Amino acid sequence: MEIIHLSAECYPVAKVGGLGDVVGALPKYQNKLGHTAKVVMPAYHTKFLLEHEFEVVYDGLVKLGFRNFPVRILREKTNKLGFDLYLVHIEGLTDREGVYGYGDDTERFLAFQIAALDWMAQWEHKPDVIHCHDHHTGLVAFMTAYCGQFRSLASVPTVLTIHNGQYQGQFGWDRLHLIPSFDLWKAGLLEWRGAINPLAAAIKCSWKITTVSPSYLEEIKHSANGLESLLSQEWAKSAGILNGIDNEVWNPATDPMLYKAYDLKTAETGKAENKAELCSVFNLDVSKPLFTFIGRLVGEKGADLLPDIFYNMLSQYGKEIGILVLGSGDPQVEGRLNHLKQMFEGSYNVFIGYNEQLSHQIYSGADFLLMPSRVEPCGLNQMYALRYGTIPVVRRIGGLKDTVTDIGDGGFGICHDQSNVWDVSRAMGRAMELYGDQNKVGEIRKFIMQLDHSWDKAAQEYINLYQI
Ligand code: ADP
Ligand code: GLC
Repeated sequence: MEIIHLSAECYPVAKVGGLGDVVGALPKYQNKLGHTAKVVMPAYHTKFLLEHEFEVVYDGLVKLGFRNFPVRILREKTNKLGFDLYLVHIEGLTDREGVYGYGDDTERFLAFQIAALDWMAQWEHKPDVIHCHDHHTGLVAFMTAYCGQFRSLASVPTVLTIHNGQYQGQFGWDRLHLIPSFDLWKAGLLEWRGAINPLAAAIKCSWKITTVSPSYLEEIKHSANGLESLLSQEWAKSAGILNGIDNEVWNPATDPMLYKAYDLKTAETGKAENKAELCSVFNLDVSKPLFTFIGRLVGEKGADLLPDIFYNMLSQYGKEIGILVLGSGDPQVEGRLNHLKQMFEGSYNVFIGYNEQLSHQIYSGADFLLMPSRVEPCGLNQMYALRYGTIPVVRRIGGLKDTVTDIGDGGFGICHDQSNVWDVSRAMGRAMELYGDQNKVGEIRKFIMQLDHSWDKAAQEYINLYQI
């Protein structure tokens, strides 16, 4: 099958979070199964763009309302990512360093979708499926079905994967003219709660919808930032497919970003060496259990709870514990996390910012990974932690529920039910108790490093879904 993935992110080209990891891996694994999966994404002004060679496959203009923007589509020449990568360069819109966060993001992603479809509409053949990821590509299913300009693509099946239903990309009806012309009586398909809502439009118009874990699919019927009733209505065409991880990128035995690579046999000494380096860089005591949090510092991840949890634990346990945070996001949370540094020097540290290499070093060097998420559609961090022999301490929600079983239930992680200071602190207390039994920790480590969360299975599940 020829599968076109349309996405705002794709690792290693541009990544903000897990969406990038998924779109950088799933197509590769689909190709390994004998299919032809390609990725089409905006051409941001990133290091990847500057350091790779491209050929031009399309030159044109994209019409956005009353304005025209020059478009150029570039194909990466080497195919070394394991799939064909196409970057859509739109002058004045995509050529910036960041992925999101600009005042004109609506225009940027709408222009991206229109330009990508303009290009595909010209092809002599048609792809077998267009697979859209999140709201940034949410208008594709509507536009291929109802905009005259894309009539030649109307018969191509569209699949939407919801990575995070909290973000929907809504904009006002005053910007309706930005969407290429369609029969106006179809406008209701764009509508949700008085606005044009790309995620809602995709849920209504896509042939199939998936969420990134089975539990999240259940949860969004009751909690989806206002889309609950719509999702319940479209239940019949929905499926929950658990994300995988890229076992080639995330492999402690070959990971070039680690201080010291290790495998199952050398896990004990390998992890100890990584921990020792990490602790020396961040001024932490290597003999204490090292907890970490890696991620976006936002409410969904429970990041606002972290300063109080850490204050609580560090006051209670003093020098018996180590904590290291890597993340960025809400400036207030960043400030409070930074503030703890002076109070608990030698037991606590934080790196505010995004740092891919440091994240690998922390997954390998930490003893426990905290994920007190309020919402977690899948979560990849806990799967990376497992692969690197780090025990996850997670809230039982979404994909965390589907991937981590509590030691009390015969499993290998520590789970708690609520996202609050008390529950997380108690879970950390249980982790410290476990840490006291190093034989047990060693057994768990060996077990979790062997769990198979690779994309092999899920890549096939998507193929099956496209074919129905
Ligand atoms: P989400 O996509 O909701 O942020 P996921 O668990 O699916 O959560 O994926 C997060 C990805 O982003 C992981 O690869 C994680 O290692 C990475 N990540 C998050 N924050 C940072 C950071 N500050 N520095 C480096 N990597 C980060
Ligand atoms: C989203 C979700 C996260 C998921 C990721 C990849 O960012 O918040 O839970 O793992 O997408 O699907």
